Amino acid sequence: MNYPKELKNSKSLLAKYLTPEVFEKLKDRTTANGYTLAQAINSGVQNPDSGIGAYVGDEESYTTFKELFDPIIEEYHGFKSTNKHKSNFNPDDLNAPNPDPENKYIISTRIRVGRNIKDIPLGTAISSEQRNKIEQDISSTLLTFTDELSGKYYPLNNMSKQESESLIKDHFLFKAGDRFLETAGLNRDWPNGRGIYHNNDKTFLVWINEEDELRIISMQNGGDIKEVFTRLSKAVKLLQSKVKFAYNDHLGYITSCPTNLGTAMRASVHIKVPNLGKNMDKFQEIADKYNVQIRGIDGEHSKSVGGIYDISNKRRLGVTEVQCVQDMYDGVVALIKAEQELVSLS
Ligand code: ADP
Ligand code: ARG
Repeated sequence: MNYPKELKNSKSLLAKYLTPEVFEKLKDRTTANGYTLAQAINSGVQNPDSGIGAYVGDEESYTTFKELFDPIIEEYHGFKSTNKHKSNFNPDDLNAPNPDPENKYIISTRIRVGRNIKDIPLGTAISSEQRNKIEQDISSTLLTFTDELSGKYYPLNNMSKQESESLIKDHFLFKAGDRFLETAGLNRDWPNGRGIYHNNDKTFLVWINEEDELRIISMQNGGDIKEVFTRLSKAVKLLQSKVKFAYNDHLGYITSCPTNLGTAMRASVHIKVPNLGKNMDKFQEIADKYNVQIRGIDGEHSKSVGGIYDISNKRRLGVTEVQCVQDMYDGVVALIKAEQELVSLS
């Protein structure tokens, strides 16, 4: 394998840190599961517009290819390879009163964490048998949940196009055919082994076998962030008492993309800030200051519609779950203030 020429004009972190020297050093290494450098970088090579561009196949990949992943992790999370991850999922420690009690800006709040099963390859390298077994085991465990967390499991290969389209449009279900996931090997055998569990109100949801083996989600309309966090904390604790997830003291929860390591938490609001939307430089400046990320309304790599944006914490590793939400909260408070100032100026 030669140095991929596609990276020459790419601005991804992969292109930045996979120098020809690092490439030469890593090109023949594999993990015990047989995951190679070519697999780890394929998504970023095929999609030179990637922000990151690399995925791992298993926990071991983070050490086998550490010359590539350590600097990516350090730049994305501000986390050094000598640091240790920390956790605090206690809702009592969260100070996040509803930043928009009059419902003028915040449309909905969603917090998710990613999880992968211990000692099994990640979705990038999993076999169809292993993937199907996860679907079986996790869906039957979830079906034992009661009260607010009680729900049903909907496998993707048994869902009508109409049903899946409506779940996607309403922001509950993942989309099909993402080109970054496709080239990372994460869409193999689609739609088999994938599905969604949710309660009746769709405030507690679990995606099975998308980018991570599990995405555990709590969401609802409005800006009651603490209620969303409390529900998620309870559900994750319960699931964790029944299933062993891949975790280590250094990187926290192990995920296929280095951006999700640590807490694997993305806490977001859908927020209507049309004036900031017309002042993207200012919007981005505030987002950078508060370590939040701006996404469009239909998830990653989508566009804003009607001045509504998805604002979420950027750092997930080396910060606790409470701090992830606090980052998002502080950013949202600052953005609401900036939007109000722009309105009063106009
Ligand atoms: P992830 O959260 O797993 O990183 P995406 O950014 O692709 O994934 O978002 C997944 C789905 O969740 C999309 O349909 C998106 O619109 C929806 N979503 C994200 N945040 C919110 C929110 N605060 N309220 C409602 N839907 C949301
Ligand atoms: N691989 C994509 C990129 O590099 C997405 C990275 C972060 N998002 C994610 N869903 N893991 O742009």
